[in-house]
Amino acid sequence: MTTVPVALGERSYDIHLAPGALDHAGTLIAPRLAGKKILVVADETVARLHGARLIQALQAAGLQATIATFTAGEPAKTVATAERMWAACAAAKIDRTDAIIGFGGGVSGDLAGFVAACWMRGVRFIQIPTTLLAMVDSSVGGKTGVNSAAGKNLVGAFKQPEAVVIDPTLVASMDPREYRAGLAEVLKYGVIRDPVFFGWQEAFADELERAEPDAVAHAVAESCRLKAWYVAEDETEQGVRAHLNYGHTFGHAIERETGYTRFLHGEAVGIGMRMAVDLARRQGRLTEAGLPRRQDDLLRRYRLPLVLTARDPAATARALVQHCALDKKVANGQTRFVLPVRLGQVELLDGLAVEVVEAAFLSGIVQG
Ligand SMILES: NC(=O)c1ccc[n+]([C@@H]2O[C@H](COP(=O)([O-])OP(=O)(O)OC[C@H]3O[C@@H](n4cnc5c(N)ncnc54)[C@H](O)[C@@H]3O)[C@@H](O)[C@H]2O)c1
Repeated sequence: MTTVPVALGERSYDIHLAPGALDHAGTLIAPRLAGKKILVVADETVARLHGARLIQALQAAGLQATIATFTAGEPAKTVATAERMWAACAAAKIDRTDAIIGFGGGVSGDLAGFVAACWMRGVRFIQIPTTLLAMVDSSVGGKTGVNSAAGKNLVGAFKQPEAVVIDPTLVASMDPREYRAGLAEVLKYGVIRDPVFFGWQEAFADELERAEPDAVAHAVAESCRLKAWYVAEDETEQGVRAHLNYGHTFGHAIERETGYTRFLHGEAVGIGMRMAVDLARRQGRLTEAGLPRRQDDLLRRYRLPLVLTARDPAATARALVQHCALDKKVANGQTRFVLPVRLGQVELLDGLAVEVVEAAFLSGIVQG
């Protein structure tokens, strides 16, 4: 069992990571619980594939678990679904000593965390991620929330879990495209902070792309270690945690422009990371000439898209810049970009001229 600590003072917790950890979830989380009742929040797909195993593991540790499900997918991440989960809390008699588990991808984790943050003004919360994206990113760090008419992820709470239990073998049942999209976030950690991890990915990209268990376990453990460092440094994203948004400002604009249907989140982020490199180059900030090629190579080996195709690239670039202004990471009306300086080092830059940002977007769009 690998244990990665997240050091947050009295809100500190451990990430427990091992093949087969799902079958030990009950004993792993029991020390952090007071009551015996647990509500498991999971989408229907995850509940069908892996729910029985989790319930059995919880029961084996003497816990009383009830599962509450919702329709899989982003559209379910709403206050309306949270309301149904609160009704399930009431039916299961979840009180202030009890706990809620988010079991599934980022949607389940974000939703369950928000439900736990609000139910009785806050009950204990556990994350058991089942997608690669959730294992390497969303289950660690305490950002929870739902989408609303005002926008994606604008309503939510910081709610740190009591523990995160990761069984990396669960990615085996994932849709391969969803799995590969998660690799964009793994790649991101190497670029922003860890050249050794980046080098490891270059050595094991093929094993990782094929989701070979040892490679997945190592990539998840290293990603969690890096995410835990950012969270411990800057829990509420006042500074350095923003580096995790590398490629994301561009990526969010691409997702919005393409109606959240053409690209998965990680795919849009991958294209966005290339645009960030272009912007860094244009601004004379990139000091490592080999970085663009090495990043491109990994994106290719992870079989992620490199460009956005559009009928009118110039018009699309203009529209993408407009979307940037709506990104929630905008501070004081300024869009901030995370730009690479060299492998393992990024910086934040804002106050850029519209034409400069437009040119960076255009660099990643081909006519088609
Ligand atoms: N809180 C954070 O810090 C943070 C960070 C990044 C992303 N997010 C959020 O995460 C969400 C995206 O997460 P996601 O990509 O995991 O999406 P998701 O939760 O919708 O899961 C994707 C799909 O995979 C299925 N699935 C999950 N695990 C499976 C498994 N082991 N086998 C087979 N199918 C499985 C799900 O049923 C779903 O259909 C977004 O809402 C995003 O805003 C949050």
